[in-house]
Amino acid sequence: MAATTAAMLALPPHICIIPTVSRTSPAAASSYCSLSSSSLGSFSSSVAAVRLTHRRRLGVVRAIAEPSVVTKAPTIEESEAAVVAGNPPAAPPVPAKASPPPHTPVVSPLELVHRPRRNRKSPALRDAFQETILSPANFILPLFIHEGEENSPIGAMPGCYRLGWRHGLINEVYKARDVGVNSVVLFPKVPNALKSATGDEAFNPNGLVPRAIRLLKDKFPDLAIYTDVALDPYSSDGHDGIVREDGVIMNDETVHQLCKQAISQAQAGADVVSPSDMMDGRVGAIRKALDSEGFTDVSIMAYTAKYASAFYGPFRDALESNPRFGDKKTYQMNPGNYKEALLESRADESEGADILMVKPALPYLDVIRLLRDNSALPISAYQVSGEYSMIKAAAAAGMLDEKKSVLESLLCIKRAGANVILTYFALEAARWLCGEP
Ligand code: PBG
Repeated sequence: MAATTAAMLALPPHICIIPTVSRTSPAAASSYCSLSSSSLGSFSSSVAAVRLTHRRRLGVVRAIAEPSVVTKAPTIEESEAAVVAGNPPAAPPVPAKASPPPHTPVVSPLELVHRPRRNRKSPALRDAFQETILSPANFILPLFIHEGEENSPIGAMPGCYRLGWRHGLINEVYKARDVGVNSVVLFPKVPNALKSATGDEAFNPNGLVPRAIRLLKDKFPDLAIYTDVALDPYSSDGHDGIVREDGVIMNDETVHQLCKQAISQAQAGADVVSPSDMMDGRVGAIRKALDSEGFTDVSIMAYTAKYASAFYGPFRDALESNPRFGDKKTYQMNPGNYKEALLESRADESEGADILMVKPALPYLDVIRLLRDNSALPISAYQVSGEYSMIKAAAAAGMLDEKKSVLESLLCIKRAGANVILTYFALEAARWLCGEP
């Protein structure tokens, strides 16, 4: 056999890939499987005949080598006899040592037992030892909806729209499912005329959110629908709770409203209700309210460690839900606090939360890790509007590679301990993970 290449010898003995979640048909997946090394016969010796296809599908590398047509192969006995007789068949030579650039200092090797770079030396090894892997199934796509039929662009969030609740919403969810994202969370832009001091529109059974849930469930029965439980989109004050005359956000009265909101969302078909309001005791109260109405199977994703963050700015623009006065510091957490997140997580867990959330995500990776290490519940992290817009703006200015920075951010959020990530990049990231440009 003529000399083959080093690249060829690096081919793995098995050449078989099954994408975990992808749009590849089962038929196509099984046809990859049928390509085992034994059925490939001997590899062609020419470089041109070696086709290495590196396609990344959700981090999976597909490597294919074309089998060559061998005319009259020797039998095993003949091959063994030849080797025993001292006539082994030709094989490629040991590769020549690559030469360093001129003037490279000549040194004796450092006496190192461990050289961590050994496990990073090739894509195959790096992929094999990667500890954290992103999948579209880990993403929850937040969707803004409004009463209109048209989609209207959100200035502060390039690429995001307030979706027409009928067509735009369905179309977006269709696209998300097509790349393996089957979880969404809904945020309504409510007409100002329907906002009030007590936010009663939040539990109108024919309000925008319940209507959208019913439509989505009708169209996509297996879609996981998360809802936001808080009064701010419905509050004429732009706060998550009822505001007293002196500016105090009333806790227990707000919780009463939130329970009614959660029930109306559950009645419409929500799978997971997500209190984002940060009132004390709301998880337990909502759990009780849901159970007493027969919704024992509706989950609660608690915004457990939700910080009073500047990174929510673009979201509030999207919903026109900026607080009319003051800030949210009497209910959302102080960004300087770490241990307090433990108090919140113990409360939410003991009150019956099914999922604990940290929000924002990237500036709070330590808090994600804290909750991960102190609870057995799934942890979610919200890569919020400001985190999204920062990357979009930097990419638009040519300062960052959007795809690389998005995938790295999401990977790191997962590495810190998040099982699922709420991200406005869900659709784009899932497409990239599916190998689309
Ligand atoms: C409101 C709510 C907010 C977000 C989710 N739910 C804003 C706020 O607390 O003011 C922010 C999400 C984002 O910025 O992407 N309860």
